[in-house]
Amino acid sequence: MTTFPAWVIREGERTNVAALEDIELSALDDLPVTLRVGYSGLNYKDALALGGRPGVIRRFPLIAGIDLVGEVVESRDERWQAGDVVTLDGAGLGEDRHGGLAGMARVGGDDLIAVPDAFTPAQAAAIGTAGFTAALSALALERHGLRPGDGPVLVTGASGGVGSIAISLLSRAGHEVVAATGRVEQMRERLTELGASDLVDRADLEDKGRPLGRQRWAAVVDGAGGQILASALSTLRADGAAAAYGLAASTDLPTSVLPFILRGVSLLGINSVHVTPERRRQAWELLARDLDPAVLDSLTRTVDLADARDAAAELLAGRGTGRTVVRIPS
Ligand SMILES: NC(=O)c1ccc[n+]([C@@H]2O[C@H](COP(=O)([O-])OP(=O)(O)OC[C@H]3O[C@@H](n4cnc5c(N)ncnc54)[C@H](OP(=O)(O)O)[C@@H]3O)[C@@H](O)[C@H]2O)c1
Repeated sequence: MTTFPAWVIREGERTNVAALEDIELSALDDLPVTLRVGYSGLNYKDALALGGRPGVIRRFPLIAGIDLVGEVVESRDERWQAGDVVTLDGAGLGEDRHGGLAGMARVGGDDLIAVPDAFTPAQAAAIGTAGFTAALSALALERHGLRPGDGPVLVTGASGGVGSIAISLLSRAGHEVVAATGRVEQMRERLTELGASDLVDRADLEDKGRPLGRQRWAAVVDGAGGQILASALSTLRADGAAAAYGLAASTDLPTSVLPFILRGVSLLGINSVHVTPERRRQAWELLARDLDPAVLDSLTRTVDLADARDAAAELLAGRGTGRTVVRIPS
């Protein structure tokens, strides 16, 4: 009988309860590809789930973890063979399907990606949903028509997982990147090393300004929502676009139609959970091309599976920076 450790979330009365348990393989769903998980990661959703907060987990009990990197041990899907090293981000993992914070996983074959040669399995986990979302945001802006030389690109939530990787990807692609952060002095050196040419204090974006402000940004990658996204929209240049992926500040969007109808700006929604296999491949190709593994290492820390909940608490408290990889014991 094969057992393995897993962070299991059970429904509680007011909050949910996360516990590291020993699980049998038979507890997993009957899906075609069985993986030995080597690494997972911590994203904001994982932090909410491990912290017992409602809203992320939609089926109980469920193994947490919206990302995984592992080796195929058995496959009924002819596209995948034993020994393949693969990664999967989103696709319901850790929300309505058993996720990656576990020694083993069973998944469908459609959304799997072979880990690119450019990255080790641990680096692929460091990328995880955060890097995947940053790449989807960059691709969306590129499809909108953004080209290097068009003007500064504002990245909000800059010290976070998505923000940090977005800065690196966009600057590598030749864009001028301005980082908006709540920790200007603390993060100046790191964000500059990642490729930001300038920093703005996010407090400057938190004030309700005029419906249309000075045109500053050719594009925006936003992880904050709320007034911060509204301010960014009102200061986008004509025909610019904002890729909105996050809600670190708020789910509200207190804007007006003026930036849209007088400046022709666009708001592009980014959803990293439900993504076509083709777009998944494009995002990972972009990451393999433009994300320097050494830069990725510089913003990554690694914790053991048993310490995932403590690390998640730091993320929830807003003390996290960069990416946290979770190492799964073999
Ligand atoms: N759409 C999707 O598919 C998708 C995918 C991934 C993540 N997300 C969402 O995107 C957001 C960021 O994810 P992440 O993984 O990068 O999280 P993260 O690593 O926790 O980073 C979030 C960053 O946002 C900034 N921030 C924190 N509290 C804030 C506040 N009250 N107001 C404004 N900014 C604040 C901080 O950066 P500074 O200190 O530099 O300001 C923080 O580092 C989360 O809301 C997450 O749920 C969505």
